[in-house]
Amino acid sequence: MLLCLFFSLSLFSTFIDNGSAGITSAFVRTQFPSVDIPLENEVLSVPNGYNAPQQVHITQGDYDGEAVIISWVTADEPGSSEVRYGLSEGKYDVTVEGTLNNYTFYKYESGYIHQCLVTGLQYDTKYYYEIGKGDSARNFWFETPPKVDPDASYKFGIIGDLGQTYNSLSTLQHYMASGAKSVLFVGDLSYADRYQYNDVGVRWDTFGRLVEQSTAYQPWIWSAGNHEIEYFPYMGEVVPFRSFLSRYPTPYRASKSSNPLWYAIRRASAHIIVLSSYSPFVKYTPQWHWLKQEFKKVNREKTPWLIVLMHVPIYNSNEAHFMEGESMRSSYERWFVKYKVDVIFAGHVHAYERSYRISNIHYNVSGGDAYPVPDKKAPIYITVGDGGNSEGLASKFRDPQPEYSAFREASYGHSTLDIKNRTHAIYHWNRNDDGNNITTDSFTLHNQYWGSGLRRRKLNKNHLNSVISERPFTARF
Ligand SMILES: *[C@@H]1O[C@H](CO)[C@@H](O)[C@H](O)[C@H]1NC(C)=O
Ligand SMILES: *[C@@H]1O[C@H](CO)[C@@H](O)[C@H](O)[C@H]1NC(C)=O
Ligand SMILES: *[C@@H]1O[C@H](CO)[C@@H](O)[C@H](O)[C@H]1NC(C)=O
Ligand SMILES: *[C@@H]1O[C@H](CO)[C@@H](O)[C@H](O)[C@H]1NC(C)=O
Ligand SMILES: [Fe+2]
Repeated sequence: MLLCLFFSLSLFSTFIDNGSAGITSAFVRTQFPSVDIPLENEVLSVPNGYNAPQQVHITQGDYDGEAVIISWVTADEPGSSEVRYGLSEGKYDVTVEGTLNNYTFYKYESGYIHQCLVTGLQYDTKYYYEIGKGDSARNFWFETPPKVDPDASYKFGIIGDLGQTYNSLSTLQHYMASGAKSVLFVGDLSYADRYQYNDVGVRWDTFGRLVEQSTAYQPWIWSAGNHEIEYFPYMGEVVPFRSFLSRYPTPYRASKSSNPLWYAIRRASAHIIVLSSYSPFVKYTPQWHWLKQEFKKVNREKTPWLIVLMHVPIYNSNEAHFMEGESMRSSYERWFVKYKVDVIFAGHVHAYERSYRISNIHYNVSGGDAYPVPDKKAPIYITVGDGGNSEGLASKFRDPQPEYSAFREASYGHSTLDIKNRTHAIYHWNRNDDGNNITTDSFTLHNQYWGSGLRRRKLNKNHLNSVISERPFTARF
């Protein structure tokens, strides 16, 4: 009885701690119309020069960040799949040969898609690279992350449902001014599937050219959304994800995944798990088996931050896509709580929403609470499907706002997660309308493993000892 009272009091106080009533922002904005940027606009233009590399994008190429995959397209002829790189601009000491592929979609024939894995890079280093030949050669650079280390600081951006409208461009430009080093992309890239026949392929190309201003210089960690499925029997296109998989490679083998649509990487102090909402995920499927193993590999002593990406949000109080995340919730929520995931990012709903730490794992069809309850071990769920695609905003939230929903607003924007050390990360959501100076939603994320109770006290004590005795910091539990 006493225990029960204590328990319900502590549940209650968690909601109070978190600021009790959630906020539904009624911000009214001027927005660009939700139309795709016309083909002739210069932000979609083909680079100068015969067969010049275009749609350049990079992603992490291994488990720990010592490799990148560089991808690009040449339109006129196969050309070279070579990447030349080095430590200073114009001085490319190393040459790596990549691979070439092409595909057709309906009657559209893709350009020549080059993919080159560059390995053996040093951590925390700026590399310059060149692709293409002669007058058409193009130069870019990227920075490798710090070595995997529990206190490595690193700033991620989070973008979802981007598309290729003027709003998409605005999101991209605001993101680029944020100072973040890598994008966690939560699915729905080009929205090319809203076109028909050969225009689908054409709009994948324009998307690649639009985002190149960022993707050529820093890795975007891709996950797939429903707009990547492209199941079109009327065009004879029935193999899901064909455009996406042909164009956006992922380092899935490095995490022993059997499929590019789900995988994991470690970067700085974060372990990032990418899931596929549109691949089988229930018990005994390949994705389920893989995730079970991957969670066991997470070592919070090395990577304190555990982040999961998926397209369909599990907690969403918008009318759009309401309940669509329920099947994944029933499959995986128990693990998310067990392994103390810090934060789960999703897209799909074209709005912004953040939850408190809540779970609904007590419920089963024969009993238990059928409503999410505050749960300190549970992740925070954040929906950032607000990149600005041609479908427009999902502005109808359910009323009343559920208790588990902390903040929600239907505006375009992007997020950043600025990891400071093993205990603290600062999260920001910035809507496009206000520029980067005004943050609409922000909070300090306390690490689920290092930030809680006993471990934090030990950490403080050890930290103090290490400062006093000037020994390198070691934590042993
Ligand atoms: C790929 O490119 C080759 C060489 O230009 C061409 O012969 C072939 O038809 C292309 N394949 C597809 C699937 O488009
Ligand atoms: C379902 O929940 C009820 C109430 O918490 C519990 O008594 C029961 O054992 C649960 N059943 C299963 C199969 O987990
Ligand atoms: C971690 O970062 C936070 C926020 O910047 C800071 O307050 C805290 O002192 C840092 N902890 C350590 C152990 O450096
Ligand atoms: C935003 O901040 C930058 C840098 O501090 C400043 O130059 C700029 O004028 C600010 N913009 C607005 C709209 O306040
Ligand atoms: Fe979606």
